[in-house]
Amino acid sequence: MKLITALIQPHRLQKVKDELFKAQVTKMTLNNVLGCGQQAGYTESFRGQLHEVNLIPKVRIEIAVNEDFVQRAIDAISRGARTGKIGDGKIFITELAEVVRIRTGERGKIAIG
Ligand SMILES: Nc1ncnc2c1ncn2[C@@H]1O[C@H](COP(=O)(O)OP(=O)(O)OP(=O)(O)O)[C@@H](O)[C@H]1O
Ligand SMILES: [Mg+2]
Repeated sequence: MKLITALIQPHRLQKVKDELFKAQVTKMTLNNVLGCGQQAGYTESFRGQLHEVNLIPKVRIEIAVNEDFVQRAIDAISRGARTGKIGDGKIFITELAEVVRIRTGERGKIAIG
């Protein structure tokens, strides 16, 4: 099992969700965050405005998946998020040790859904 954490541009969220749904990835957690990547100290645009401050609004998506869904989730996020410009985002993949569905007590591959 892996935990996929993606930082994307807020205006690409709908496209990323569409691509994930097409790839049959339907479970996710989202939150709004502030972040900066390798352009720290430079400008990046958000809603057409250039920002000189380092921290730019991003959407953080967390998806826990079984191994057979890892690549298709990465591909879907990339297809939805990529514009080819700086700030398109980043995907972090980490090993996921355990998952527990609270209602049933199920664990692991079954609990992930
Ligand atoms: N090494 C990192 N650690 C933690 N968060 C990161 C890291 N790199 C990027 N992020 C997060 O991802 C968001 C998007 O990063 P961004 O796309 O700007 O990456 P980048 O490495 O600067 O690539 P690019 O040159 O394409 O802009 C950042 O705003 C930040 O929230
Ligand atoms: Mg950047």
